[in-house]
Amino acid sequence: MKLLVTGGAGFIGANFILYWMKYHPEDHVVNLDSLTYAGNLENLITIEKHPHYSFIHGNICDPVVVEKAMQGVNMVVHFAAESHVDRSIMEPAAFIETNVTGTQVLLDGAVKAGIERFHHISTDEVFGALSLEETKKFSETTAYNPRSPYAASKAGSDHLVRAYHTTFGLPVTITNCSNNFGPFQFPEKFIPLAITNLLEEKKIPVYGDGLYVRDWLYVEDHCRAIDVVLQKGKIGETYCVGGVTEDLPAGRQGISNIEVVKKILRLLGKDDAMIEYVKDRPGHDRRYAVDWTKINRELGWKPEHNFDEWLGKTVTWYKENVFWWKDVKSGAYTSYYKKQYGGDK
Ligand code: NAD
Ligand code: TYD
Repeated sequence: MKLLVTGGAGFIGANFILYWMKYHPEDHVVNLDSLTYAGNLENLITIEKHPHYSFIHGNICDPVVVEKAMQGVNMVVHFAAESHVDRSIMEPAAFIETNVTGTQVLLDGAVKAGIERFHHISTDEVFGALSLEETKKFSETTAYNPRSPYAASKAGSDHLVRAYHTTFGLPVTITNCSNNFGPFQFPEKFIPLAITNLLEEKKIPVYGDGLYVRDWLYVEDHCRAIDVVLQKGKIGETYCVGGVTEDLPAGRQGISNIEVVKKILRLLGKDDAMIEYVKDRPGHDRRYAVDWTKINRELGWKPEHNFDEWLGKTVTWYKENVFWWKDVKSGAYTSYYKKQYGGDK
């Protein structure tokens, strides 16, 4: 089996390639990545010389590159995207280009190459926002209501993937997952930003009142969910993938950002003085929660990594891999940070 993974130098894509090569050593993996600010080949240093792994430096929006990359490929696992909501508010154009046009170019390439499976990685953000008062969760039947340019571009890509299934008979599957956390996450996203700021004795910027809720999924659980869908998922179907929630006290709708911050402060022995409330994100979605009953019932998957324990292990990973994030936090990232937070926080 030969897999083409797009965006494999990014956070989830790299974790997925490492996972796949560990659990499916007989397979060949081709990684197609244009190495934007979020792509980092350091993530794959342990397998870069593996005879079953190869890397193509190229853009998914380029049909010539895509056609070449798909030669001899059985399955495409499509992660490549512009993925940060705050950047999509600053500069939406790149999100439409990569997430919508790039996906369409890949789909065309997949139809031409007769790909046996095109798996598209999407997000729960396409469903919009839940309130703190309701107990509702997002599921496969929730209507789309994207509220940021990022979410709108991912919604557009989901619609295209389904349309190519209906119109051209392309064998597709989609997963819509919640917020991932774990090793190799670029430190502009909330959890690695909080951890690395504290490790640099800088404050944690908390948007608005800090009562926003995310559904946290450990990245390895996500990789296993994709594996299960690739092995047993039904063609044309969508599966929602979310994190462990059993530890929540009754009546609680999720873990708020401020609670996440406090857990990280405790893990690193810091106090609340390191919290800095900053200007809220425009159109900030209040709450996400994912109902993963369908993938559990039909394919037997469930999240296995409990949030507190794996947040602790994630903090340890960032403590032990300072060289990794120091590198990525320098350079171009510094100017983004200044623009987003207006200073050297
Ligand atoms: P990331 O930003 O860490 O990585 C994205 C990767 O895609 C990078 O390696 C980048 O270089 C590459 N890329 C970007 N534009 C490209 C292009 N035009 N051509 C080729 N490569 C390109 O993203 P991530 O957090 O790993 O997310 C991966 C996927 O999962 C995305 O599709 C995202 O929408 C989805 N997702 C992420 C989360 C999350 O919590 N991180 C949650 C739900 C869904
Ligand atoms: P983020 O990691 O950007 O993921 P998403 O917006 O895709 O859910 O943000 C997670 C949550 O953390 C979200 O509610 C916004 C909030 N947040 C902050 O409070 N401060 C920050 O500096 C960042 C980056 C995010």
